[in-house]
Amino acid sequence: MGMNPTLSVIGCGYLGATHAACMSSLGFTVIGVDTDPEKVAMLSRGELPFYEPGLDTLLAQEIKTGRLTFTTDFSAIADTDVHFICVGTPQSAESFAADLTYVKSAVAGIAPYLKDGALVVGKSTVPVGTAQGLRDELKKSAPQADLAWNPEFLREGFAVEDTLKPNRLVVGVTSDRAEEILKEVYKPLLALNTPWIRADLATSELVKVAANSFLATKISFINAMAEICEAAGGDVTVLAKAIGYDPRIGSRFLQAGIGFGGGCLPKDIRAFMARAEELGAKSAVEFLHEIDAINLRARQRVIDVVRNDLSADLTQYKIAVLGATFKPDSDDVRDSPALDIAVELHAAGANVVIHDPKGIEPARKRFPNLNFSETIAECVKEADLILHLTEWKEYRALDPSIIGQLVKNKMIIDGRNALDRELWRSAGWKFHALGRTD
Ligand code: UGA
Repeated sequence: MGMNPTLSVIGCGYLGATHAACMSSLGFTVIGVDTDPEKVAMLSRGELPFYEPGLDTLLAQEIKTGRLTFTTDFSAIADTDVHFICVGTPQSAESFAADLTYVKSAVAGIAPYLKDGALVVGKSTVPVGTAQGLRDELKKSAPQADLAWNPEFLREGFAVEDTLKPNRLVVGVTSDRAEEILKEVYKPLLALNTPWIRADLATSELVKVAANSFLATKISFINAMAEICEAAGGDVTVLAKAIGYDPRIGSRFLQAGIGFGGGCLPKDIRAFMARAEELGAKSAVEFLHEIDAINLRARQRVIDVVRNDLSADLTQYKIAVLGATFKPDSDDVRDSPALDIAVELHAAGANVVIHDPKGIEPARKRFPNLNFSETIAECVKEADLILHLTEWKEYRALDPSIIGQLVKNKMIIDGRNALDRELWRSAGWKFHALGRTD
């Protein structure tokens, strides 16, 4: 294979488009393959089909170099050395398990074109055992090739930074040769002293779901403490700060509020439970059921506060919802707690109007019956209540006295514990937050 292997990226969604552009920026020739012709056309023009800070400029820049190309044609990978599988593994329609259709068809799609010595590298999040199964299949259809696993830990909103400066690289391999190839590919990152962990295939798959399960657990832990604070008359934000100073606990991911959403954490913990059950180890991760339940309860608790603040019957009220995406700096509305709450309130008969800096179009696509507003002023106009559900910096910068002149009723619920309570209260607002009694 020699120096500077050429790369392909199969699946050019969130993960794949980021990986392709970043690897190109490290100097590699990269071919991105996706079955969606519209996506391929956009990416080829250097346009990003979704919002991710910094990735738009990086993509445009890499397209110009000529190193980065996109196609719908699998045969284009025939001369390529290393193939990253970056397709999605969503939750199945009928169960908690992950849907592996796309991963299987990606590997099957490239198999006929793999050259001698090619390495297929899975990056998608998959149930443990998937890589071994795919490798066994590949050995039948393309014995000249090998398969490794290399989980991805990037966060939306920080995708470029996390790809180019990862806090660790994990490779699941079955041969020294596969590890050597991956070391060649990640040489520029290894030069930054990035920790390198070689594992077997199963462990590499597990590292990813273990990490996401831990993060989900941390968030649900603090949301459970928020419930206790509400019951006992405490303040979860003070509690989180105080326990976070213990370095064994750490202060990150202790932000109490309406909980986690997105395309990863919720479906990953569910897929993990489903897989553990198949493996006969159901009880080991039974606690994840509770993590999921605490998380979903946080959404319900906001609705309870709304009913408490307004009335059990919401039909007479306008509720302004600030935030639709599952977190700031993203246009992703998959399993968004904010949107979920908005949908519930709308279904309960409230006049719900939603604002989001980036997520209105994707949210409208999912829920065409909801009402959206392009400006904060229009969203909050004559509102009986404001719900702050995604902590965009735009919302932290709001002046409560100016907003106070637009609404009917100066009442706000901070679902993310991100607004300055004293500032809002001193402007005459009734301010509620999850996990903070006053
Ligand atoms: C998550 C992981 O953090 C990444 O490491 C992983 O690579 C990625 O999933 C993946 O599997 O691909 P992401 O989904 O981008 O990344 O979002 P996070 O930053 O983890 O946030 C997830 C959710 O938790 C958001 O809804 C956020 O609002 C919520 N959250 C986060 C809290 O409610 N409290 C916190 O303290 C932190």
